[in-house]
Amino acid sequence: MDLFEKLLKDRGHLGSHSHVDDNYYMFPKLEGEIAPRMMFKGKEMLTWSLNNYLGLANHIEVRKADAQAAANWGLGYPMGARMMTGNSDHHEQLEQELATFVGKETGMLLNFGYQGIMSVIDALVDRKDVIVYDAEAHACIIDGLRLHIGKRFVYPHNDIDNLETQLRRAERLTRESGGGILVITEGVFGMSGNMGDLKSIIRLKDKFNFRLLVDDAHGFGTMGATGAGAGEEQNSQEGIDIYFSTFAKSMASIGAFIAGSFNIIDHLKYNIRSQIFAKTLPMPLVIGNLKRLELLRSNPGLKDQLWVIVNAIQSGLKDKGFNIGSTQSPVTPVLLNGTTYEAMNMVRDLRNEYSIFCSVIAYPVVPKGVIMLRIIPTAVHTLEDVSQTISAFEKVKIKLDAGFYASQGEKAAILAKKEGL
Ligand SMILES: Cc1ncc(COP(=O)(O)O)c(C=O)c1O
Repeated sequence: MDLFEKLLKDRGHLGSHSHVDDNYYMFPKLEGEIAPRMMFKGKEMLTWSLNNYLGLANHIEVRKADAQAAANWGLGYPMGARMMTGNSDHHEQLEQELATFVGKETGMLLNFGYQGIMSVIDALVDRKDVIVYDAEAHACIIDGLRLHIGKRFVYPHNDIDNLETQLRRAERLTRESGGGILVITEGVFGMSGNMGDLKSIIRLKDKFNFRLLVDDAHGFGTMGATGAGAGEEQNSQEGIDIYFSTFAKSMASIGAFIAGSFNIIDHLKYNIRSQIFAKTLPMPLVIGNLKRLELLRSNPGLKDQLWVIVNAIQSGLKDKGFNIGSTQSPVTPVLLNGTTYEAMNMVRDLRNEYSIFCSVIAYPVVPKGVIMLRIIPTAVHTLEDVSQTISAFEKVKIKLDAGFYASQGEKAAILAKKEGL
């Protein structure tokens, strides 16, 4: 069979919707300045789906630094991979400042989070080693695992007893193979908003010999007294052997970094394929990220303001009876009951009638029958935005529960259930 023909027959889960979509659910275009209110299909929307926790994306000093750096350096400089011709004092300065901020000896820049962490995983293990990871891990971690030719064991999300069981299995194997064990979790899980139970994981180091890699994409800048992340929040930063964060969330930019002890970061610098064989981060991003980090460190008020909004929306939703799961972070899932068809109709209604734009997540990412609206609060939202949103959610929930968004078939089933048929 022709390869392309085969692919186009079964477009994949998301691709199967491509023929009906008109940039509405997928590839929507939010236009205008990055802010809580942006234009969508010619209409102003209150948006809750931008990873801009601290509001730095459109901060006046950030915009100035980005523009000045682009004017001074262009988008290309420095040319080549970091190891060859892509290094600069600014790259090294950013690495050192990031490492100091998260309490580690040194750091290394990655030119994207996704392939960066995949490559970190790849460079840390060989066939003799075992990886043990949380079942809710982000796709980039899963893809990193796919590169691993040795064994990997998964434990149910934050289930520390099961992690211990997996570590025991891993220990048996590595005793024979002569390999080591890498445990991978997230600092804050991007769907549920739960923190990884870092404290309990690190406590297991008393019993087992393993190294811990933490993806803190959603914790960096949002958690901990200074914003140094979920490890700081749990007073556990020291037990994290390799700390990872992308710049795509609190830093509202592009790129990522890892931080750890001198010897392991130095080892990785010489062994990480995605950085050795790919172009370095361009200077405007490095300078722009230095500015963002400076603001993040020197303006704790940004994080405080983020949490004012987080607390208002999370307690407001709970007060109105909404199920927001067990989030411990700004990530706010709103869990409702309904089909994918209802989810699509409800989101259309939220956008068209109530001017609220947020992400919707349906089966198979969440269990069948569950609809998740995902709210990402930022420091630049207002309390008025919060009350507008909660009031809109209340209205659409009433409609959802009454079967307003259901298909004809679903409506008949609801009616039959009501009548006890
Ligand atoms: C938990 C987590 N890790 C890694 C990434 C990937 O980062 P990047 O967007 O820099 O590729 C993301 C998404 O941005 C994420 O949510």
